[in-house]
Amino acid sequence: MVWQLRRARPEDLNGIMQLETSIFVSDAWSPEMMARDIADPSCYYLVAFPPDEPDRIVGYAGLLAPRGAHEGDIQTIAVAEEARGHGLGRTLMLSLIGEARKRGAREAFLEVRADNPQAQRLYRRLGFEELGIRKGYYQPDNVDALVMRLQIPEPVTQTTDTGLPEETQE
Ligand SMILES: CC(C)(COP(=O)(O)OP(=O)(O)OC[C@H]1O[C@@H](n2cnc3c(N)ncnc32)[C@H](O)[C@@H]1OP(=O)(O)O)[C@@H](O)C(=O)NCCC(=O)NCCS
Repeated sequence: MVWQLRRARPEDLNGIMQLETSIFVSDAWSPEMMARDIADPSCYYLVAFPPDEPDRIVGYAGLLAPRGAHEGDIQTIAVAEEARGHGLGRTLMLSLIGEARKRGAREAFLEVRADNPQAQRLYRRLGFEELGIRKGYYQPDNVDALVMRLQIPEPVTQTTDTGLPEETQE
């Protein structure tokens, strides 16, 4: 499966909200909250779509990282059920982490439901570590949140065969 990513636009709100309300049944964001984040320059929201259907959103993810702040927050991530298990979640996360680094963040934080092992596995694979627990953070379900943190790796400068320095992303 192949997808493209682009920055979310206000016109993407309906497509994003369709996924949001079907996936986060009991604690979906309101359209107003989502629209505010998409339009906020401190945020960075991406949508994923099939290359030949740019209006069909199959995933989205959002970062809050004001330029110059040393921390970023992963606000949300979701992938349509039919598109899961092919690396799209990881790709979205890596794109947000890359943008956070560009904006100067050294750490990224997120909250994840304690009863969501799939998402936790994705975050752990990316290097996120558990910092603590927020009791009853998710309401009305009264489910705890794990707070996780990633220390964002610095870009590494390596010397190539040509002798020219090359910047690579760790
Ligand atoms: C969490 C979520 C975003 C992950 O999205 P995803 O696109 O399925 O994520 P990935 O494909 O990158 O990784 C998922 C699994 O697919 C596997 N995978 C990755 N690339 C693969 C590939 N090319 N082929 C086969 N499997 C692959 C990964 O190893 C991973 O396996 P694991 O779950 O056994 O560890 C998705 O499950 C989701 O939207 N869940 C509901 C919303 C949610 O919980 N959001 C998080 C709120 S905090």
